[in-house]
Amino acid sequence: MVVPFLFLSSLILFFLLHCSPTLAQSPAAAPAPPGPTNVTKILEKAGQMSLFIRLLKATQEDVTLNGQLNNTDNAITIFAPGDSAFSSLKSGTLNSLNDQEKAELVQFHIIPQFLSSSQFQTVSNPLTTQAGSGGRLELNVTTTGNSVNITTGLTNASVSGTIYTDNQLAVYQVDKVLLPLDIFTPKPPSPAPAPAKPKKTSKAADSPDAPGDASGAVSFTVLNNVVFFGIALVAVMFSS
Ligand SMILES: *[C@@H]1O[C@H](CO)[C@@H](O)[C@H](O)[C@H]1NC(C)=O
Ligand SMILES: *[C@@H]1O[C@H](CO)[C@@H](O)[C@H](O)[C@H]1NC(C)=O
Ligand SMILES: *[C@@H]1O[C@H](CO)[C@@H](O)[C@H](O)[C@H]1NC(C)=O
Ligand SMILES: *[C@@H]1O[C@H](CO)[C@@H](O)[C@H](O)[C@H]1NC(C)=O
Ligand SMILES: *[C@@H]1O[C@H](CO)[C@@H](O)[C@H](O)[C@H]1NC(C)=O
Repeated sequence: MVVPFLFLSSLILFFLLHCSPTLAQSPAAAPAPPGPTNVTKILEKAGQMSLFIRLLKATQEDVTLNGQLNNTDNAITIFAPGDSAFSSLKSGTLNSLNDQEKAELVQFHIIPQFLSSSQFQTVSNPLTTQAGSGGRLELNVTTTGNSVNITTGLTNASVSGTIYTDNQLAVYQVDKVLLPLDIFTPKPPSPAPAPAKPKKTSKAADSPDAPGDASGAVSFTVLNNVVFFGIALVAVMFSS
């Protein structure tokens, strides 16, 4: 009686040992694509992505992404808005952004983990983006049946298709440009343009130096209002 039991147990153990690496997506299982992954190329092939590609290039995020993908330890999901998503933005939206905000906007569409379409159902919100973590830089994914929606607090978008997927990179088309709260809602003024490399955590930490530098009394009032609205917004968020 003992022998069949042992045999059965070891059979189960064998089965578990052999199956769990597949479930846990061992990086070794990724089929090597010919040459390093090139995100721009993937998006060009999809078509109707010229504005997103232009933003990726302008912010050098294409180089960053390809570099990250050259290391099989990194996994990435991209929510790529098509040209029609950009054209439905309020006019001037992109032009109003400085270089750092443009980079942040692009990074907001990139999730530093691989999400297969079935994982959307079980993913735990909120999702940290390449732009950073914290409520103003995160987004939520919700699903009903086969439809996948994304909300940022400002934008409600839907995933409209899969452009590319291997075990390391997934690229989905979304029907809207995802606008992060961090850029498009009033916030406490951050002093002076941040230094070259935008480090996500340092933003709020600096002391507000020289706000009156080039501005007069008028912009100081504007500054006060921005602070007031920022505080009011936080208060509303916490009380609801
Ligand atoms: C990626 O593909 C684009 C478009 O096909 C090309 O212009 C670019 O040189 C490629 N980048 C690399 C690093 O191969
Ligand atoms: C990819 O990584 C390898 C090994 O680290 C390196 O030799 C190669 O230059 C990298 N290629 C690109 C396109 O970054
Ligand atoms: C997803 O978005 C669509 C259209 O924007 C909407 O009809 C649907 O109710 C949303 N589903 C969820 C789960 O939010
Ligand atoms: C995202 O989900 C988290 C956790 O469920 C929630 O606290 C947060 O309010 C949601 N944010 C948005 C913008 O829906
Ligand atoms: C997004 O969806 C939520 C919940 O369905 C809704 O309350 C909110 O007004 C929508 N926001 C926009 C900008 O459409």
